[in-house]
Amino acid sequence: MSEKKAGRKPSIGRGDSRWIPASLLPLVDFLIAVEGVLNPYPTARSKKRKDYSVEELEDLLNWVSAFWLYESETIDRLLHWKSLKVEGEAKDYSLSRITPPIINNDNNPTMSKIITVFNQSGGVGKSTLTMNLGYHLAQHEHRVLLIDMDPQASLTAFMGLEPFELKKTIYESVMASEPLPIHTDIYGVDLAPANINLSGAELELVVADMRDYRLKEALSEAVNQYDYILIDCPPSLGILSYISLVAATHVLIPIQTHYKSLKGTELLLRTIARVKARPNKNLKIAGVIPTMHEARTVQGGMALQSIQASRIGTIFPAVPRSVSFADASQEHLPLALHNPKHPAVALFNEIAGSLEALV
Ligand SMILES: Nc1ncnc2c1ncn2[C@@H]1O[C@H](COP(=O)(O)OP(=O)(O)OP(=O)(O)O)[C@@H](O)[C@H]1O
Ligand SMILES: [Mg+2]
Repeated sequence: MSEKKAGRKPSIGRGDSRWIPASLLPLVDFLIAVEGVLNPYPTARSKKRKDYSVEELEDLLNWVSAFWLYESETIDRLLHWKSLKVEGEAKDYSLSRITPPIINNDNNPTMSKIITVFNQSGGVGKSTLTMNLGYHLAQHEHRVLLIDMDPQASLTAFMGLEPFELKKTIYESVMASEPLPIHTDIYGVDLAPANINLSGAELELVVADMRDYRLKEALSEAVNQYDYILIDCPPSLGILSYISLVAATHVLIPIQTHYKSLKGTELLLRTIARVKARPNKNLKIAGVIPTMHEARTVQGGMALQSIQASRIGTIFPAVPRSVSFADASQEHLPLALHNPKHPAVALFNEIAGSLEALV
C-alpha cells in the first residue's frame, strides 16, 4: 500500500477492515481460511481477519485474481469440504485426502539448473539480468538457454531479434507442444523468444489441460541439452509467472533498491510458497539481487539495508544504477561487450559464479 493511501486511512489500525467493501468481506475471510490451509507455516493457520494489517489485507485483495486463476480447483474442493463442516484433526485428515497430489520432482533426472527470474514489479531489471547472467554463464563454458516468458518480449528484443517478425515463439511450445523455437549462439547463448502472441496464453491456459506443467513439459528435452536454463518472467503474478516457477529448480529475485522495494515482496514470497506447497515442492530460492542501486543516496542505502535485513535468502551484491544498461540493450549487447570495464561486469561474473555453486 502506498504512503498516500495510508494517509487516507489515518484512523485505521491493524485488523481494521472497514475500508473493504462489505460485499468482499466473505471472500476475504474465505481466502484467509484457504491461505491458512495452504500456507506451509503453522503460525499462519490460525490467522483471522483482525490479525492482518491493512497492507496485508490489501495484498490479499490483490491476490484474489491470481488466486482464482491458478487455485480454482483447490477452491472448489475446499468449498465442498467446508460445506461438510469437518473440524479439528478430521479437518487435516480430510484435507490431505482432497488436496490434489504433489508432483514429486525428486526423480528429475536432469542435472540442469532452471532458474526463473521473478518479480511481479515492472522494470526492476529482470530481462537485463537474464541476458547478462546467461552471457557470463556461457563464458564459464556452460551450455545456456534463455526462455522469454514475457509477452512484452524485452529479452527477445535485447538479444537482437525482432519479436513481430518471429514465426514461432515459446507460445507454440507451451500451447501446442511444438519443439522449442531455439535461436542458437547469440553471444554464446541460445534463446527461445516470445512476442505478443504469448499474451493470448494467459487466457487460454486458464482452461488448458495440465496447465501448471505446460512449460515444464516444453522444457523436457532441453533439460538434457543445457547446463542452465534461465526464464525471464513477465511483471505479473499471473499464470505465465506461475508456470515458470513450476518449471524451475530455482528462483532468483531482483529487487530494486527503492523505498517501495519490499512492498510487493510478501505477495511474491506467498506465490513462491504456494508453488512449493504443491506443484513444485523442490523449488529453491537462489537469492535476491538488489538492482538499480544508487549508493550515494540515503534512500538507496536504507532500501539496501532493509533488503539485507529481509532474510529472504542469499542477498547478492547490488547492481548499480547506470545508463550503460540502457545503452547496451539498445545495441543488443551484454554489458560485458558494450563496456567491458564497467564495474557491473565483474559483479555479473561474480553472481554467475555463485549460481554455479547452487545445489
Ligand atoms: N542497473 C540498471 N541501471 C539502470 N538502468 C537499468 C539497470 N538495469 C536495467 N536497466 C534498464 O531499465 C529498463 C528496465 O529493465 P528490464 O527490462 O531489464 O526490467 P524488467 O524487470 O525486465 O522489466 P519488465 O518488468 O517490464 O519486464 C531497461 O531500459 C534497462 O536497460
Ligand atoms: Mg522484462
